[in-house]
Amino acid sequence: MQDYAIFNEQQVYIEKAKPLLENIYGAPKACVNTFGCQQNVSDSEHFKGMLKAMGYEITENVEEADFILFNTCAVREHAEDRVYGNIGTIKKLKAARKNIILAVSGCMAQQEIVANKIKKSYPYVDIVFGTHNIHRLPEFIYKRLSGSGRIFERSTTVTEIVEGMPVLRDKSVKGWLPIMYGCNNFCTYCIVPYVRGRERSRASAQIIKEAKEMVASGIKDITLLGQNVNSYGKGLNEDINFAGLLRKINDIPGDFRIRFMTSHPKDCTEELLTTMSECSKVCKQLHLPFQSGSSRVLKAMNRHYDRQTYLNLIKKAKALMPGITLTSDVIVGFPGETYAEFCQTLSLIKEVRFNSLFTFIFSPRPGTPAWNMPDNVSRAEKGKWFNELLLTQEPIGKELEQEMLGKAYKVLCEELGKDGQIIAKTDGNIAVEFNGPESLIGSFVNIKITGINGGLKATLI
Ligand code: SAM
Ligand code: SF4
Ligand code: F3S
Repeated sequence: MQDYAIFNEQQVYIEKAKPLLENIYGAPKACVNTFGCQQNVSDSEHFKGMLKAMGYEITENVEEADFILFNTCAVREHAEDRVYGNIGTIKKLKAARKNIILAVSGCMAQQEIVANKIKKSYPYVDIVFGTHNIHRLPEFIYKRLSGSGRIFERSTTVTEIVEGMPVLRDKSVKGWLPIMYGCNNFCTYCIVPYVRGRERSRASAQIIKEAKEMVASGIKDITLLGQNVNSYGKGLNEDINFAGLLRKINDIPGDFRIRFMTSHPKDCTEELLTTMSECSKVCKQLHLPFQSGSSRVLKAMNRHYDRQTYLNLIKKAKALMPGITLTSDVIVGFPGETYAEFCQTLSLIKEVRFNSLFTFIFSPRPGTPAWNMPDNVSRAEKGKWFNELLLTQEPIGKELEQEMLGKAYKVLCEELGKDGQIIAKTDGNIAVEFNGPESLIGSFVNIKITGINGGLKATLI
């Protein structure tokens, strides 16, 4: 279900908070710090949209902010530790300026154990709210400003998709477009289904409307977001799947590109790959996490595909889209994984030849099935395996870059690099740098790759 009415209530809080904020701070400033995946980046863009509507100026400088938000990630222990460290640094700021409001949101905040820890050990945190209450930020700030006690909100009563939230996008050339929320897959290592709730898709009309607005605002690269975009459409009152949605977005007039993430191999169909190959605006780039090259480990991970199924998918993708850019996620040291099984991960990497990989050492997450699985491999040993994995991927990535030398590509000029060069992206999302006027930012140009020196160098053609 999609709902505009839910946010109407927040519009009232936005209006009520404005004069209060002006009274207390004059010209209030807000700083939003984002951890984790693109879903959080997109949520933060909505936080910034709501804060701006309330009258806050958005700043990157936490020292000057009157409202500070940490939008957190719980996917690995390290991500959580970083957040606690960051919250700790705000204590001094708050001691000096009592009327700063400090809030913690996101996937960590959705967990009871985390909310309790903050309640007890971080008394200077004012507001803690989870992923199901993102739209209620204006209400929480208003209530805290009006003298309410500390606010802790983890309720999951709103299961509809909240439409109509303002959004302030970080970039003007490329943008995130959420098409679904939550996850139903319960991979045994993963916390996401517990902190993001059940999978729900946005109505295609809402997505098309937002995509059109993005294109009209000058965005040239749209990434469709979801934890498992391939299962888009389930539970909607319309007959549509992800391939159908891609075709609809591809039909929107204008010169722009479409990407999507993340794809789950179990739902990646031949229809989808064919659709990708047929839609001119859909980039020939696929992020398809395989996690492990061992069918036994994949089963223990509850991934619902095996090694051969994954390799067959890649074969089909390469046949339909020669030159396709392939990236993936991989976990080293899942409980019970043997060295021989880890070697199957290495052999899969060599067989597929990914352009790049996101590599993780297994991090036990409380509440997930893998938390209780026996794990006999030491952290030091897993570290060695991890390095072996990096050494396996490195030459492959480099060879694929070498193959680009001398070739021509259409690229989107995205931003200026530190040295004043233009940073642009190929259809495959590979970054290239070249000299050119700043006025090219936001346009597509043709370039030729001329060298590799700490990244791909190019010239305009
Ligand atoms: N939904 C996506 C999918 O199924 O591929 C991925 C979402 S998850 C936020 C991003 C990646 O984090 C996963 O693909 C996995 O490789 C990694 N990850 C998740 N839980 C992890 C854990 N407990 N330890 C290590 N890596 C983990
Ligand atoms: Fe986590 Fe698996 Fe869902 Fe991805 S598909 S978010 S890895 S449970
Ligand atoms: Fe982290 Fe939540 Fe994303 S746990 S990876 S921010 S969905």
